[in-house]
Amino acid sequence: MKPTLVLVHGFPLDGSMWDEVRVALDPSIPVMAPSLPGCDGGPVPPGEASLEAWAESLASFLPSSPVVMAGMSMGGYVALAFADRYPDRLAGLALVNTHPFADSEEQKAGRAALAARIREEGPSAAAEAMLGRLFRSPHGEQNARAVREAALRVGPEGLRYALAAMAARPDRSAVWSGWTKPCAVIHGAADAIVPADKARGYAATNPSGVYTELGGVGHHSPAEAPEAVAAALADLWRISAAR
Ligand code: MLT
Repeated sequence: MKPTLVLVHGFPLDGSMWDEVRVALDPSIPVMAPSLPGCDGGPVPPGEASLEAWAESLASFLPSSPVVMAGMSMGGYVALAFADRYPDRLAGLALVNTHPFADSEEQKAGRAALAARIREEGPSAAAEAMLGRLFRSPHGEQNARAVREAALRVGPEGLRYALAAMAARPDRSAVWSGWTKPCAVIHGAADAIVPADKARGYAATNPSGVYTELGGVGHHSPAEAPEAVAAALADLWRISAAR
């Protein structure tokens, strides 16, 4: 049976951030791009905000046969939490414009400050905080509109949950470096949130990780270079499906 390619979204976005990649993908590849609970118009998971709760909810509705999972930025943190907890449910793993490390204290404080702004000003605060860093400069109007609309769809509760869950995540560099199934890192060379040298550094800690760097592309590579991202994901999917 063909593995499903599961695409996990970043912040402050939802599953629609993968629309252009889906169009560019070989149609014979089965694809799912779910919006995480709380980012989908429904409630956030009960209890403390955590990426593990999101990994658990993915495990509850993904196909039971192993999938190939690709996560962009926050989605990569979720994919690593899933790989940590459910390695047998994965046939392959792709990290897109992300990294396996925990937040610094400064980053945690920044997330708390943004959560407070969202409480006061609403979801547009998240879109405005991210816009200048998500894309290579200058970002197009279409990209800006997509991010603003996504943040509104996700809503304040989902956005604050995401910020708290990201701040609480542990370092998962050992999950990446110890991963023995097919894996790939796809990264924008002009990423303003996760610098490319950081991505090159962690990618190299797993000798089987295939590293693809996209020249002139920022943090949101699925929007800026959907064909190239789709091609790299299709390569990983084929290798994973053949094993
Ligand atoms: C994302 O794009 O999902 C976020 O930039 C991730 C983060 O803030 O660490």
